Amino acid sequence: MLKQKDLLGLYELSAEEILSVLAEGAKLKAALRKGKKQFSDLAGKSVVTLFYENSTRTRCSFDLAAKNLGANVVNLGVATSSVQKGETLIDTGKTLDAQQNDYMILRHPVAGAPRLLAKTVKAHVINAGDGMNEHPTQALLDFLTMQERFGSIKGLTVAIMGDISHSRVAKSNLYGLKKLGAEVRLFAPSTLMPFGLDRMGAKICRTREEAVEGADVVMGLRIQLERQHAGAFPSLGEYAKYYGVNETVMKYAKKDAIVMHPAPVNRGVELTTALIDGEQSYIEDQIFSGLAVRMAVFKALA
Ligand code: NCD
Repeated sequence: MLKQKDLLGLYELSAEEILSVLAEGAKLKAALRKGKKQFSDLAGKSVVTLFYENSTRTRCSFDLAAKNLGANVVNLGVATSSVQKGETLIDTGKTLDAQQNDYMILRHPVAGAPRLLAKTVKAHVINAGDGMNEHPTQALLDFLTMQERFGSIKGLTVAIMGDISHSRVAKSNLYGLKKLGAEVRLFAPSTLMPFGLDRMGAKICRTREEAVEGADVVMGLRIQLERQHAGAFPSLGEYAKYYGVNETVMKYAKKDAIVMHPAPVNRGVELTTALIDGEQSYIEDQIFSGLAVRMAVFKALA
């Protein structure tokens, strides 16, 4: 159970709250694995997804999670909605509230947009990624995959490699992993490493090898070209060569280390294709965890 009406970020959740969602997520994942897809926890409830940015996995997974729990789901096509006529987020939220929606799932390019919506509406708001701020359900699904693979998050060493500056996934992972007792190492070209994350408990690494040395988890992050101003690095080819994770870099990790990535992946840039499709890759498992964890989040807010 979560105390809050909304899930806006992991910054504001306690370790106990995170662990309770993971415990429920693990149960649901086991049930899904056995082929059970119909539950009635959200029967009679309505859920609307509102994505102001593109998405494949996250949107589909929220949609399926709500349907598996028995809810009515509407996917609002922002590109074909009154947003294009200039309607504000607050007015859109009030409209959806008046239609008695119980949950609003919001992805938005502006950091803080879900908080604004949550203050405005009666419905539970779930942040599906707000700008460069947080992506709490992505981090929760990452934790479910790590927990299943290693038994516990406590004591793990997690190396997060890539475009840290523009990544909401990195921030939600950092906030949650520190609460759960993991060591978090961050590596990026210095032009893509924001100031201050060391004060949040991260170890900032200057080389790929330093980040990956003895790590249990190596997580690649997409270069967020859509959020970047030009010039953070010379070219994608040079990024791959000097900053990407490849088989040689992975040799520094523990023998049983796993490779993760929130996807979509720029193949051959942040991770080599051989790593993405290789035995150490848990990228598909992350997507499976996403469905289970989002079902668990709906239940925790109910
Ligand atoms: C992430 C996102 O949107 O922040 N993707 C996702 O939700 N699976 C990461 C990304 O887009 O690179």
